[in-house]
Amino acid sequence: MALFTATGVGRHDAAARQASFLRNFELFDAPHVALFFMPRSFGMREASDVGMYVQTLMLALTANGLGSCAQGALGHFAGTVRRVLGIPDDLLCLYGLSFGWPDPGHPSAAARTDRAAASDLVTFHA
Ligand SMILES: Cc1cc2nc3c(=O)[nH]c(=O)nc-3n(C[C@H](O)[C@H](O)[C@H](O)COP(=O)(O)O)c2cc1C
Repeated sequence: MALFTATGVGRHDAAARQASFLRNFELFDAPHVALFFMPRSFGMREASDVGMYVQTLMLALTANGLGSCAQGALGHFAGTVRRVLGIPDDLLCLYGLSFGWPDPGHPSAAARTDRAAASDLVTFHA
């Protein structure tokens, strides 16, 4: 995995992998986080609407020089977040988005993920 390679975490180093996962809950040192909720009564279609919204937000952040990381892991403690922020129970936490000015000197900044070829994702019909 690109992040593990960039940060020197070995494939079989369970403790380092666990520590890397726990970095999610330090927001990877980002100063800000946005948490995205939707009413529990909503379904997959609305969840995909939220996804498109967040994607657009990430593009806008990038266009302004900011970095961001979508984090499904932040939904793991949604109960605590709801309690602390006074968010009603009928709102479901989909994920969080940590963001801030990127730190180009951090080892994780060197991580590069692959992109699938368009031909792997799209089928064209005449
Ligand atoms: C909806 C969604 C949830 C994600 N959740 C996490 C997460 O909880 N923790 C994490 O480290 N990366 C998570 N990722 C992956 C990162 O946000 C990011 O996509 C990855 O580091 C690759 O970055 P890149 O797409 O800019 O190459 C998630 C991505 C998406 C789209």
